[in-house]
Amino acid sequence: MTAQLIDGKKISQQILQNLAVRVQQRLENQLRRPCLAVVLVGEDPASAVYVRNKKRACETIGFESRSYELPVQTSEAELLALIDEMNADSGVDGILVQLPLPAHIDGQQVLERIVPHKDVDGFHPYNLGRLAVKMPLMRPCTPKGVMTLLDAYQVEITGKKAVVVGASNIVGRPQALELLLARATVTVCHSATQNLAQEVAAADIIVVGVGIPEFVKGEWIKPGAVVIDVGINRLENGQLCGDVEFAVAKERAAMITPVPGGVGPMTIATLMENTLQAAEIHDT
Ligand code: GUN
Repeated sequence: MTAQLIDGKKISQQILQNLAVRVQQRLENQLRRPCLAVVLVGEDPASAVYVRNKKRACETIGFESRSYELPVQTSEAELLALIDEMNADSGVDGILVQLPLPAHIDGQQVLERIVPHKDVDGFHPYNLGRLAVKMPLMRPCTPKGVMTLLDAYQVEITGKKAVVVGASNIVGRPQALELLLARATVTVCHSATQNLAQEVAAADIIVVGVGIPEFVKGEWIKPGAVVIDVGINRLENGQLCGDVEFAVAKERAAMITPVPGGVGPMTIATLMENTLQAAEIHDT
């Protein structure tokens, strides 16, 4: 069996087209364009690419975007002062501080300074807590985008066994909460997990986000499982590859996300959805 490919590029484009229509409807109703403020501290090349893609997505669908590209020596106090300013600015709907931040800045302090209703990344403990108690407000983009993909491909989740590999604050933990909210039986694996292969082999749905090329072996996958690969790793030869051994996994899975073109484009489309949601909160 060769797996059906889950086309995140196609689904993300449908989301963006739908958002563009909703921006036009807002303008017809005398409402503002949603506005996303993006903050980049320092010159990490991967972060610069992500930030550029986020700004480009805003332009494509008619959102306003503001960008703050700050020098690497920016102090934590200066960054917090900028966030205070944006929190108070009624023209800004969403605030995104690109991670990772330089080592001299306490990233958690920064994330917690963003008012939760402008936290379009969904990283504030308030928003993670809301997700944990089944009352989500702003949902972290990558895990929410994964749920959108599963829904678009009509993957049944209720009662299924879902295994999340990786327990990061950005991907694994909120992904586990999302799958639990959708009534899966959820296992979270991490670097202290014993018998990882056995855990993965029991899964109907597997979501992997560890940042290690081909970490999950294809032969671990249960035949007929749905495999979602959040990893994007650049190999020495310049090629991109995921956290799952794709060539083998695709011969066992029922459905699988490619890298690139799977989860990656969904994260940005979901960020745009969250920004419109924030604008709607600010309308009232
Ligand atoms: N760095 C890697 N992924 C993300 C993300 O989703 N949001 C932000 N702000 N930074 C990141």
